[in-house]
Amino acid sequence: MAVNIIGAGLAGLSAALALAEQGIKCYLVSAQSSERAQSVLAEGGINAALDTMGQDDTTELHFEETMAGGVQLADPDAVAALTQNAPAVVMKLAALGVPFNRSPDGSLMLRSFGGQKKKRTAFAQSSTGKMIMTALIAAVRKYEGNGLVTRLSHHTFVRLLTGESGCSGARVRDSYTGELYDLRGAVIMACGGLSGFFPGRTTGSVTNTGTAAAVLFSQGVEFADLEMIQYHPTTFAIPGKRCLISEAARGEGGRLYADCSGLQWYFMEEKYPVLKNLMPRDVVSREMYLVSGRKDVDGGIFLDMTGISDDVWAHRLSDLRAEIQSYMSLDPKETPIPVEPGIHYFMGGIRVNVRHETSLPGLYAAGECACQYHGANRLGGNSLLGAVFGGSTAAKSAALSAAAQTKLAKLTRLPGKPDNDAERFTGEEPLCAEVSGELTARAGDILYSALGIVRSGERLLNALDGLADLMTGKAANEAEKARYQLARAMLLSALERRESRGAHCREDFPETKEEYRKTAVSRFENGEVSISFENISERRQK
Ligand code: FUM
Repeated sequence: MAVNIIGAGLAGLSAALALAEQGIKCYLVSAQSSERAQSVLAEGGINAALDTMGQDDTTELHFEETMAGGVQLADPDAVAALTQNAPAVVMKLAALGVPFNRSPDGSLMLRSFGGQKKKRTAFAQSSTGKMIMTALIAAVRKYEGNGLVTRLSHHTFVRLLTGESGCSGARVRDSYTGELYDLRGAVIMACGGLSGFFPGRTTGSVTNTGTAAAVLFSQGVEFADLEMIQYHPTTFAIPGKRCLISEAARGEGGRLYADCSGLQWYFMEEKYPVLKNLMPRDVVSREMYLVSGRKDVDGGIFLDMTGISDDVWAHRLSDLRAEIQSYMSLDPKETPIPVEPGIHYFMGGIRVNVRHETSLPGLYAAGECACQYHGANRLGGNSLLGAVFGGSTAAKSAALSAAAQTKLAKLTRLPGKPDNDAERFTGEEPLCAEVSGELTARAGDILYSALGIVRSGERLLNALDGLADLMTGKAANEAEKARYQLARAMLLSALERRESRGAHCREDFPETKEEYRKTAVSRFENGEVSISFENISERRQK
């Protein structure tokens, strides 16, 4: 029996590669090709304490800064595993052919990124995600050739198959023919974040609908810390979405300022003299929100990159410059760029443990869909790392599951089609209904009104009422109902966390409280969403 991976972005590819390297067959299911996955949009880099810049960096410091950036909400054992393995992850990617920028002596160059005192972020100009994806697509292709990896690239996830012992597979739909297939075996979800709940407001891929996660929630899988939504400080609007200006721009010398009473006010440098413009993203976005709301500030916030040298533009940021020129018709080398915070990443998601096991036996999750390494605020450069490491960790765990241990004696392959491991399903499937774009947009506006950079109990309660009104009298289909429940869970989780921590800032509860240094677990049981706060274990591994 095969392992079934839902999502062919970075976490999915990493899982497929890890399984194939162990000789275990997998299906790699995705609505789009890997080349169109959100991971290709990742720009600035991937973190690892490689210490190639003579700064005495250590994996322990990477651990401490990741925990501090996430305001101590992440599982310390998981973060310890991530940060200790990071150097090996990046060196493996380099060996697979990722064209990381290198110093004249051949060692990997590292740049500064937010919330980190050492240069720790390996990069390929400002297209790191695209370059890592290109290398992994090629590495996995080798195993597509021998049948260990079967791609189902135009197939969408419909639902989990479950039985008494947990998850027994996944039902998927061929979007060309409409045919349904039941894929038996362990399932790894690598379906990305919840961008599709906030249409037009995120830097994430517009094709990432979030419906797969919603279906999982409606099937009883536990989610965690859904209120933790990251706003990236430097984004700008383009039709239908927001575009990212990589943190690399500030890592290479870009400066944020506001026009205040006729003067350029470099507010981050004034208030945070050590990390300056490279404070963690939650802090920078909140400062931008507060500064741009001031009466004496005129015209919003600007990112000044005019002091960056020609050499850095040419060798480290050329693709970022081209992107800004093409979308904004401005040259950042000559002109400060107007920027605003935009939703960029979901720290919350499917609850997993250090082995990437979910609450349902036989089901694993990795990448942005999983709530794991980032606590209340992710450090830039830790998402690519979390996706690669998480994908391979989930694969190792799935490989150990009884279902996956049956390696194929004889490999059979039918390109682009489930082979004889899969059964055609011909019954009624209510989850195959289309989700209304209008409903998604209206629900997105409601969520955005309450899950901004600064939140309040009143706005969250209004949003819960607004969502309920939106659904009242509507003959919603099963997929829409599932999305509604997950949207409610996001709001309820934010409402119940009566403190401010990382990306979750409550004007009615401004302090961080030790009693809330807990995981906010969302469950859907008996038709109701419930939220409970559960202890985070202390660090066991050193
Ligand atoms: O700003 C960036 O390049 C984003 C990186 C990340 O989210 O890790």
